[in-house]
Amino acid sequence: MKNKFSITLLVAAAVFCSTSVFAQAVKVKPVKSKSGSTEKVAPTPESESKASKGSAVKIPVVSSDEVTDAWSAPAIDLKFAPLPYGYDALEPVIDKLTVEIHYDRHHRAYYNNFIKAIGETKMASMPIGKIFSNIKEMPDAVRNNGGGYYNHVLYWENLSPKGGGEPTGMLAEMIKKQFGGFNEFVQKFNDAAKSRFGSGWAWLSVDNTTGELFISSTPNQDNPLMNSADRMGTPILALDVWEHAYYLKYQNKRTDYIDGFWKIVNWPVVEQRYSQIKIAK
Ligand SMILES: [Fe+2]
Repeated sequence: MKNKFSITLLVAAAVFCSTSVFAQAVKVKPVKSKSGSTEKVAPTPESESKASKGSAVKIPVVSSDEVTDAWSAPAIDLKFAPLPYGYDALEPVIDKLTVEIHYDRHHRAYYNNFIKAIGETKMASMPIGKIFSNIKEMPDAVRNNGGGYYNHVLYWENLSPKGGGEPTGMLAEMIKKQFGGFNEFVQKFNDAAKSRFGSGWAWLSVDNTTGELFISSTPNQDNPLMNSADRMGTPILALDVWEHAYYLKYQNKRTDYIDGFWKIVNWPVVEQRYSQIKIAK
């Protein structure tokens, strides 16, 4: 620790949580701490609760150049993971055929085309987070398919047939602190999702420089890790608002699909992504 009063903050947000089916399916190399023994996990809700008595809640600050454990592998080594549940598991919110086509055709095509696009290039050996943080200099095929691959991994994983309800712990505290409450957060997120013109995504992310939670939307297959984003951050909740995500069941009623989304959000996964943001001193 060069300076105990200066804090260098790293992104290690959990895109795959270690206990998830996705995490078990994707074979990646373990990441070594860049700061050796000085790196530690952000405060748990319990420790934060103790620490917050009489003091402000600390907000972790993160850097987009860092990557999660699971995503630290060379991009060429990333795998197309199995869906964490059956095609019909998200019914009635998302119908079986939509999930099957969405996962097995759209998502798979993004993955295949991403691997093909990075092929023998220098991007093959780069972590996908590094590719994203330089995406404006990368070919469109990498941007569209790399984003399409990554974004859908987050999306499938942050859905669950047993989802819904509200977050707990540190994430719930921060949502209340920053948005005024869960309902206010949902309203703002919905506004971002419903107002995205054409195809794109809505996100809850952690800001790269301030560590604050923020809501945003991105066009096409862009995401907040990309240096093309209006505000960069590490996404912890993803909502796909492309028509292919809902049109068979909802047709033009994107609003109904978005309203249903909250019934299947896998909050434990979102909370784990948030809690695994690491701080290095
Ligand atoms: Fe999609």
